[in-house]
Amino acid sequence: MDVFYASHFGHTEQIARHLATLICDAGVPARACNLARDYPDAERIRAPDACVLISPIRYGMHLPRASRLLRQIAPLTPAKPLVLLSVNLTARKDGKTSAEGNVYLRKWIARSAARPLIAEAIAGKLEYPRYNLFDRTMIRLIMSITGGPTDGTSVIDYTRWDRLPELATRICAAIAPAA
Ligand SMILES: Cc1cc2nc3c(=O)[nH]c(=O)nc-3n(C[C@H](O)[C@H](O)[C@H](O)COP(=O)(O)O)c2cc1C
Repeated sequence: MDVFYASHFGHTEQIARHLATLICDAGVPARACNLARDYPDAERIRAPDACVLISPIRYGMHLPRASRLLRQIAPLTPAKPLVLLSVNLTARKDGKTSAEGNVYLRKWIARSAARPLIAEAIAGKLEYPRYNLFDRTMIRLIMSITGGPTDGTSVIDYTRWDRLPELATRICAAIAPAA
């Protein structure tokens, strides 16, 4: 199974690679695939194989390569099983990890008309030291609105890594009837 990912600062890449390893451990061959280096051709997209698509949010939008791939895969779902995962800081809050509770994920699905088997938001990483002045100012603003740290220096990994094995198990179970 392909675990397609886009990533700006590398955190989503780490999640995608770890998830691919966990899916392999659960008995389904899987490989993480960086959309910036290895964008799938039409034949690979059309193949009925299940896939995972995971992208972080930047300023309310998923990364363009991931959204492009979602637009291509969406009409093929649900015959082509899709697991859609959104990485963002909003998902650090209770109730914001489901498609109903996470506005980015909900809109991503609605805009593409995709019918994913599983759709979830995963809490991302706050890394103030890596942001330029503009981004740091904007993220501080977002954090002040949502009750997070506004110091401009914190590095906090909000990802619940302990929940990924259970997600990998669910992904394997969900695709099993289709496989
Ligand atoms: C410039 C920038 C803009 C962001 N915008 C949002 C946002 O609008 N909403 C949100 O919940 N998270 C936002 N985030 C948080 C990222 O989604 C999170 O840091 C994620 O872990 C980044 O993944 P990456 O390292 O793979 O790029 C933003 C992060 C950055 C750096």
